[in-house]
Amino acid sequence: MDEKMARYFQPPDLKAAKKRGKEEISVLQFDQIPQEMRGIGEGKRYMIKTYGCQMNVHDSETMAGMLELMGYTMTESEEDAAVILINTCAIRENAEDKVFGEIGRLKTLKTEKPELILGVCGCMSQEESVVNRILQKHQQVDLIFGTHNIHRLPHLLREALFSKEMVVEVWSKEGDIVENLPKVREDGLKAWVNIMYGCDKFCTYCIVPYTRGKERSRRPVDVLAEIRELARKGYQEVTLLGQNVNAYGKDFTDHDYTFADLMDDVRQIGIPRVRFTTSHPRDFDDHLIEVLAKRGNLVEHIHLPAQSGNSAILKIMARKYTREHYLELVRKIKKAIPDVVLTTDIIVGFPGETEEQFEETLSLMKEVEYDSAFTFIYSPREGTPAAKMKDDVSMEVKKERLHRLNQLQDEISRKKNEALRGRTVEVLVEGESKKNPEILSGRTRTNKLVNFRGPKHLIGQFVHVRIDEPLTWTLKGEWVDKVDSRQVGS
Ligand code: 5AD
Ligand code: SF4
Repeated sequence: MDEKMARYFQPPDLKAAKKRGKEEISVLQFDQIPQEMRGIGEGKRYMIKTYGCQMNVHDSETMAGMLELMGYTMTESEEDAAVILINTCAIRENAEDKVFGEIGRLKTLKTEKPELILGVCGCMSQEESVVNRILQKHQQVDLIFGTHNIHRLPHLLREALFSKEMVVEVWSKEGDIVENLPKVREDGLKAWVNIMYGCDKFCTYCIVPYTRGKERSRRPVDVLAEIRELARKGYQEVTLLGQNVNAYGKDFTDHDYTFADLMDDVRQIGIPRVRFTTSHPRDFDDHLIEVLAKRGNLVEHIHLPAQSGNSAILKIMARKYTREHYLELVRKIKKAIPDVVLTTDIIVGFPGETEEQFEETLSLMKEVEYDSAFTFIYSPREGTPAAKMKDDVSMEVKKERLHRLNQLQDEISRKKNEALRGRTVEVLVEGESKKNPEILSGRTRTNKLVNFRGPKHLIGQFVHVRIDEPLTWTLKGEWVDKVDSRQVGS
């Protein structure tokens, strides 16, 4: 087993990751690629497998940016890859199981091709138990690095290439901000932009505050400059990213500038559509509602995770709002933006959740009328407070609740989409439909997927589509005309 030793630069430590000190956040500038790594990837390919949320998707774009600066080019084929990175998600156990399955599967490839560099990064690598398990059972892995170590990839890759040991570097710290990171954006139309990192909310079920560090906001000048640059390059849509975007700016000590201020400034940049994710209901303030109601490029879609409709459960989850507070917020948003589309995240089977409490989640869903919802069975995460609570709802009951919740949501989604029958919507055409290349597909401002027949030159453009067949999760329609660029978003 110890044919390969680990070369620890730093192992993970969840306890250390939990601490929130008063340390100043450093804004670092990304170093150049070290001299000896420039061109090291010439003629070689890389592959990044990404699990989890948009934050991970965007981190992968940053890693791709660094790899390409070293000369590597992207491949979709494992056999062709000289470097394979698995960017992992720790949010639920099934996400972790999938990754371990993948690592196990790649063992054969590594045996056939020993020069392959196999790396594991992302949220799972921040967990001690994961790193220990890889060290003990998955010696085929060459490199493990954490979410705070992404900018160190060129250095760590050098170590992995030139050392026979497994290279491990996971900083379990509050985190810094690294600017000027190179990025290879997957798409030329829609781009992700980080506005903040980390989370200080410590909801009792959630591992993210431990894997992603403390809340820290990028400076407005840096965010705005990045968005302006994207607009200049012809991007049509940006999504502002953060684990809790509503806390943006709360960590600035030298000036008052909130998420609402940022949105108001982004509104004035000539990018046709601006989204954001994810908001926390607790920090969603009136000023933000006021700014969003100005619309323009700020789309009328808000993802507003509720997690539960019962105040007692919300309290044990440490969500810091009640059902009533949440509903009041929804009422205010709907008043200011009557055609708003709300979506949500819900967890069923949290420790101690009774049938009555679950029914309150059903009734919240009915009352708010979300257009869609991501629904999850509670999954205990080691190191979180909820993992110590008695997980007393049986899997059978959890599954049954999830099923009932999904059925209700499907009914509501169908009804919401039905209301669009005969209406003309603005669609940003993204490409050919996955199932049928004859069909084009794109999204409305509210992020609904629309399929329609039309000429290929519409890809990348805004068009009007009349909805004639609304389904539960998608809309089918007929192309009407192209949208005049001056009218986009109006
Ligand atoms: N179990 C189940 N779902 C979870 N989520 C976060 N942590 C857990 C967990 N331990 C869900 C929440 C969150 C979404 C991204 O994942 O609903 O909003
Ligand atoms: Fe998964 Fe959350 Fe990490 Fe995203 S931030 S990769 S959802 S654990």
